[in-house]
Amino acid sequence: MTIKAYVYDAYGTLFDVHSVTEKAEFLFSSHGAAISEEWRKKQVEYFMLHQLTGTYIPFSEITRNALLYTLKKFSLQCKEDALDSLMEAYLELQVYEEVHDTLHKIQKNNVKQVIFSNGTYKMLKPLVKKRELTDVLDILSIEDVKQYKPAPAAYQYAQETLAVNRDEILFMSSNYWDITGAATYGFKTAWINRGNQPMDVLGVTPHYIFASLNDLLKEKELHS
Ligand code: LAC
Repeated sequence: MTIKAYVYDAYGTLFDVHSVTEKAEFLFSSHGAAISEEWRKKQVEYFMLHQLTGTYIPFSEITRNALLYTLKKFSLQCKEDALDSLMEAYLELQVYEEVHDTLHKIQKNNVKQVIFSNGTYKMLKPLVKKRELTDVLDILSIEDVKQYKPAPAAYQYAQETLAVNRDEILFMSSNYWDITGAATYGFKTAWINRGNQPMDVLGVTPHYIFASLNDLLKEKELHS
């Protein structure tokens, strides 16, 4: 199998979206974990709805809107500076512990490594820089085409930009909706099943299921 590009989802795959819990807990004691869970759930729901209704707005606005809903849901009053502080947490999310070493080891095989995310460049670039991944990762954002993953047009944009065949891309995500979109479009897929969850019933089976990116290095046929 010839893989010419390793393409990674960002939020939940390389970066832990729930690392916002600490700041949320500091601002809203005893609500941190619940805020983080509801915030991510609403963020995903909102970009899906904006995609389905053809009403694109940037992921940064979607993320802020999902946060506003979450705080309302828990009847939490929030000043603008607290809201800004939580949004800033998205620019410094923790990177999963195996990511840095794995991506640097793969880099030695001279393959292209790219983030492909629903996030905006203004959200992704500071995060990749902060976590010292600029030397191994290029960044592609759907904001270039205003089509959110898992829409086929989003993956088509990534494939055309990379200028390789669909099956020469190994797409990795922890989000099963993303794996479903990528596999349906024709990418090879590896589900990074960090939470040891069952597969969703969506008629799609990933080519690989990894507990973390460490497992990627064990698949010798991917590095031939
Ligand atoms: C991403 C999130 C939405 O596209 O999974 O990075």
